[in-house]
Amino acid sequence: MHITLLDLLRCPFCGGRLTLEDNAALTRTGDEVDTGVVWCECCAFPVVGGIPVMRADDTTRRAIHQLEAGDHAEALATMLDVGDERRADFDALLARGAAATYQDAIAVLSPDPEGTYFVYRFSDPTFVMADAVLRALAQAPGAYAGRVLDICGGSGHLTRTLCALRPDHEVVLADMFFWKLWLARTITAPRCQPVCCDGNQPLPFARGSFPAVVLSDAFPYIWQKRMLAEEMMRVAGDDGLVVMPHLHSSLGENFSAGMTLTPESYRNLFLALEPRLFADQALLTQAIEGRGLDLSRPQSPEELGHEPSFTLIATRQSRVFRHYEPLSPGLVAGVLRVNPLYEVTRRGWATELTLRFPNEEYAEEFGECRRYLPDTLTLDVDLTGPLADAGALSRIDDLRRRRVLLDVPTRYCGGADRAATGS
Ligand SMILES: C[S@@+](CC[C@H](N)C(=O)[O-])C[C@H]1O[C@@H](n2cnc3c(N)ncnc32)[C@H](O)[C@@H]1O
Ligand SMILES: [Zn+2]
Repeated sequence: MHITLLDLLRCPFCGGRLTLEDNAALTRTGDEVDTGVVWCECCAFPVVGGIPVMRADDTTRRAIHQLEAGDHAEALATMLDVGDERRADFDALLARGAAATYQDAIAVLSPDPEGTYFVYRFSDPTFVMADAVLRALAQAPGAYAGRVLDICGGSGHLTRTLCALRPDHEVVLADMFFWKLWLARTITAPRCQPVCCDGNQPLPFARGSFPAVVLSDAFPYIWQKRMLAEEMMRVAGDDGLVVMPHLHSSLGENFSAGMTLTPESYRNLFLALEPRLFADQALLTQAIEGRGLDLSRPQSPEELGHEPSFTLIATRQSRVFRHYEPLSPGLVAGVLRVNPLYEVTRRGWATELTLRFPNEEYAEEFGECRRYLPDTLTLDVDLTGPLADAGALSRIDDLRRRRVLLDVPTRYCGGADRAATGS
């Protein structure tokens, strides 16, 4: 936690400012606080692994006691919920240091369908669509004009996009689950400022702190929708931008749908910021076809009809709603690797790729990725070596657009045999 985050943080319960306690819990390097306790007039909250945890429950109280006893490793284990059974595996993971990948960490911290969703998140259709929306909006003058908040941001896949789009701005990632934030800070989006908080409670931030607020693929899981909508608009301010890719509609069919509403009801929650709606299917098609994104023609709830999901963009900056030109994939922020959905076989100097879904459920939910990921592909390059020659470069752009090659964090997946070059 950078010390300046304290200027933005507010207690979710009393709304008060937070003070950092100078006691045995505190460890800091310059302006970065690694562990400590912050307090307001009503509560104390732990900072563990550089992450302020703005929740008041038995787990956070235990972590505070452990921190104050100088037991920082135990406080981390408490917040990561690696109890007795998983503790040995977690210690082994930590002992591997930078050799342990995101995939390895998920195997310990979330060995379930949610973990699978996160591991393959960089190429699933809802990510491809949401990523395209965020990249398009970055072209609008004034969009993401300051700090950005990614609420319910999971382990930071889209936060990584936001960090790359706005390298000079602070990007705050908020989620209820500490382990997701810890992975984001450690691997997925190391530059972001994570804050652990519950979206069913008032957001722990000062009014108007974030000119842009993103919430992707999560709003239906929130019970207190009315409050969260008001809270998102409070922290965004009157001139702010709220972007909500992939809202499940109660009028359509969705996997893991959550507590859905009709398009009209979602829209009504954000009326104060003049929301517009766009069918996800059309946005995905435009993202796949690489012909830019048309945000000039929003759809009414009636026009959306039984579309399973849609994207809501709310802002009074009407110039945001226009057609956006396609963007090139851009500089590689991490390393290029073969999408982990592919089995990679060497054939001399060529490489054969075969699409293999992790399980049937994944194939059923995200199979639409076959619109851009070919079932098999033979590349006349050796993917174990550097792809630096000019002839290969144009192909690399195409393979990146199709998500066959992914720009992932250095420690994300695979072994050296799957590494291509970064830049
Ligand atoms: C399907 S994931 C989407 C993650 C990320 N926004 C993305 O698009 O990659 C839903 C996320 O919502 C978070 N979430 C669910 N309920 C929450 C709550 N009450 N407060 C904060 N986050 C919550 C989950 O922890 C999870 O990370
Ligand atoms: Zn308080």
